[in-house]
Amino acid sequence: MVSRTICNALLATTFVGLKAVSAVPLGVDVDLDLGLLDIDIAINVATIGTPDKEAEYDYVVVGGGTGGLAVAARLSEKFNVAVIEAGSYYETVNNQSTVPEYFEKFISMKLDKSTWAPTDWGFTTTNQTALGGQEYHYSRAKTLGGCSAYNAMLYQRGTAGTYDEWADMLDDEDYKWDKFEPYFAKSVNYSVSAERFANSSIPAQEEGAFTATGGPLHVAYPEYATPFGSWTKLAMAEVGLEEQPGFGGGVLNGSQFCPQTANPYTGERDSSQTSFLNAAVAAGQSITVYNGTMAQKINFNSGKKAVSVTVSTSGGASYKISAKHEIVVSAGAFQSPQLLMVSGVGPAATLKEFDIPVISDLAGVGQNMWDHIFYGMVWPVAMETRQRLLEPAYLEEKVAEYHVSPTNILSSNVFDFLAWEKLQNRTQLSASSLAELAKFPADWPELEYISGSLDNSALPSTYRDYTTMIPALVAPTSRGNISISSASMDDQPLINPNWFGTQTDRELAVASLKRVREFMATDAVQGALLGEEIAPGVAVQSDEDILAYIEGSFSTVFHAACTCAMGLKTDPMAVLDSKARVYGVTGLRVVDSSAFPTLPPGHPMSTIYALAEKIADDIKNGC
Ligand SMILES: Cc1cc2nc3c(=O)[nH]c(=O)nc-3n(C[C@H](O)[C@H](O)[C@H](O)COP(=O)(O)OP(=O)(O)OC[C@H]3O[C@@H](n4cnc5c(N)ncnc54)[C@H](O)[C@@H]3O)c2cc1C
Ligand SMILES: *[C@@H]1O[C@H](CO)[C@@H](O)[C@H](O)[C@H]1NC(C)=O
Ligand SMILES: *[C@@H]1O[C@H](CO)[C@@H](O)[C@H](O)[C@H]1NC(C)=O
Ligand SMILES: *[C@@H]1O[C@H](CO)[C@@H](O)[C@H](O)[C@H]1NC(C)=O
Ligand SMILES: *[C@@H]1O[C@H](CO)[C@@H](O)[C@H](O)[C@H]1NC(C)=O
Ligand SMILES: *[C@@H]1O[C@H](CO)[C@@H](O)[C@H](O)[C@H]1NC(C)=O
Ligand SMILES: *[C@@H]1O[C@H](CO)[C@@H](O)[C@H](O)[C@H]1NC(C)=O
Ligand SMILES: *[C@@H]1O[C@H](CO)[C@@H](O)[C@H](O)[C@H]1NC(C)=O
Ligand SMILES: *[C@@H]1O[C@H](CO)[C@@H](O)[C@H](O)[C@H]1NC(C)=O
Repeated sequence: MVSRTICNALLATTFVGLKAVSAVPLGVDVDLDLGLLDIDIAINVATIGTPDKEAEYDYVVVGGGTGGLAVAARLSEKFNVAVIEAGSYYETVNNQSTVPEYFEKFISMKLDKSTWAPTDWGFTTTNQTALGGQEYHYSRAKTLGGCSAYNAMLYQRGTAGTYDEWADMLDDEDYKWDKFEPYFAKSVNYSVSAERFANSSIPAQEEGAFTATGGPLHVAYPEYATPFGSWTKLAMAEVGLEEQPGFGGGVLNGSQFCPQTANPYTGERDSSQTSFLNAAVAAGQSITVYNGTMAQKINFNSGKKAVSVTVSTSGGASYKISAKHEIVVSAGAFQSPQLLMVSGVGPAATLKEFDIPVISDLAGVGQNMWDHIFYGMVWPVAMETRQRLLEPAYLEEKVAEYHVSPTNILSSNVFDFLAWEKLQNRTQLSASSLAELAKFPADWPELEYISGSLDNSALPSTYRDYTTMIPALVAPTSRGNISISSASMDDQPLINPNWFGTQTDRELAVASLKRVREFMATDAVQGALLGEEIAPGVAVQSDEDILAYIEGSFSTVFHAACTCAMGLKTDPMAVLDSKARVYGVTGLRVVDSSAFPTLPPGHPMSTIYALAEKIADDIKNGC
């Protein structure tokens, strides 16, 4: 059987008037209509057709998302690899997500389907008990690139203590920051624009954070810096939160602009597909993509070795794709545990409920879900923010500019100034909260603040520009869980984030909002504000009112993780060993955010890429 590679999409953008960006092999020209943005994308479909059914590969990766394409691309340097992905190319389905500024179109928690991205799975949570029994939409991308294809692109790493704790929890020195850090640098092609505003320039990065010989993923400080970021920096410094060089060197204590996963030369998002997959294809590596193909079940032989994946296609076909060596599950924090469960790996009681034969009774599958939450506070300002793009003439002007040179507001996530700290004023926390927070490593911040702008279109238009200050909980103590409602992957898993489940989270949320008010009351920032706080507004003062505002307006930061956690064999809740191998079976690993033992403070994408690099290396080295 000859395996063919399909859909090798090498995408290059030919902006009107812009220098050619990269060589594009001859292929099918698709004119993507981005509303006002017209971008020509050439998709090179190397071999059109259906890949071989019933084919066998050295490695089969389930899920062509963030972790999946990184691990598949690296494995294909040495092995024959297949990727099974339910979605397709987002460039043809959700072409707006290529434009960094447009990411915000894809973060809705509303149940109204018209607010969901065309590439969204459409998942909803279970009724959230701490939130009056409400259910919410939880964004997850169904496309090559996975969530890296529509996320906010913030690129930042956890603290040294985060990964040192992983090493302790897993009894594996490889996760110590000093040994794990090179895997972060390995995935990244880093650049910084010299053209930024002088008051928003970027200091030299921490030693070792980025190297000249990185990988295919563009990470850059774009030319555009959100103007209010420089004011946030001054405000924070006035109340003791100083500027730090960057967020890639294992320290998160202070403020700085944050780079994004976008190509500064094209002004476009870099997903795991535009980076890892395209680079592997361009290098002629053996990687076969089964897009539009849903993994339904992992099949084991009598020796409990994972040997094949049963798949279905939208066309109604069903067949098996086999793995000579191993199957790597990278279906994300919701569907990786779901796929394990429907395949017989999970809590025996749950499996029996749905008549699923138990292959490996692992109580931890679907448990221990971590997530982050954030909430916006709004002030009117006298400088450019996202709000201005609501004006059609202004948007048209910016789009025209972006066509010529992709360096204006549209090339940025406009969500680009971050800061971190442990809560300073600890008298606001109860004894039990203090005790719970004391379990985190000493360098692990509890709070993150994001300065940028989100959709404030509902606010009065008296002011044209609004800045949004967004506190986030990055040492959350609530834990959620994932379960199944049937034995079929076609039914969505039961998703229970359990947001606001602990008193500690609620206390920190209230305290973080008060801390942002301290920033915004500094002398440093007064010259930039056009008026008083608009949301929640100065009338909201009591802890009860503050909490009610937060619970009524919060969003997940979409960081679901730890639902198939790595841990010691002696830990009854561990699902994977430190090489991401599933306990109780062979030939099966999980490599995505679900494998994390803890969710690092901040944004998880960098750690997912680093973990994928590391496990790919382990596999290539025979471990
Ligand atoms: C709106 C939003 C904003 C975010 N912003 C940031 C940010 O700024 N910075 C950051 O670091 N992180 C951010 N995140 C989080 C980050 O994007 C995710 O944690 C990360 O991308 C998840 O990677 P993953 O590999 O675990 O899963 P995914 O990237 O979700 O990949 C899973 C893949 O598996 C596929 N799949 C699932 N089930 C099956 C099946 N049965 N068969 C075949 N295929 C299947 C899916 O379609 C998907 O492609 C954000 C997330 C969202 C949603
Ligand atoms: C691009 O996106 C727009 C808006 O979502 C859509 O109408 C159009 O069909 C898309 N184009 C292609 C080629 O998919
Ligand atoms: C969840 O809430 C909805 C609406 O409030 C209700 O109809 C439904 O029965 C609830 N589901 C469960 C499992 O409690
Ligand atoms: C980094 O990206 C730039 C722009 O795409 C490219 O010219 C350069 O070769 C890349 N560097 C490496 C080491 O891949
Ligand atoms: C930094 O420079 C930009 C561009 O001139 C400006 O909009 C912003 O207000 C400046 N910030 C401060 C703190 O002066
Ligand atoms: C796979 O992707 C290609 C390229 O976008 C597309 O033409 C094809 O329809 C996709 N296949 C499926 C089954 O989604
Ligand atoms: C710390 O918080 C307490 C309780 O909210 C408050 O009374 C006190 O003024 C705060 N201290 C400082 C220095 O802000
Ligand atoms: C953060 O830095 C401040 C000094 O700016 C220091 O006092 C504090 O201990 C640091 N916190 C952590 C958690 O490292
Ligand atoms: C998930 O957690 C909730 C509490 O938040 C609990 O009621 C429920 O039983 C748990 N479900 C599973 C499958 O563990």
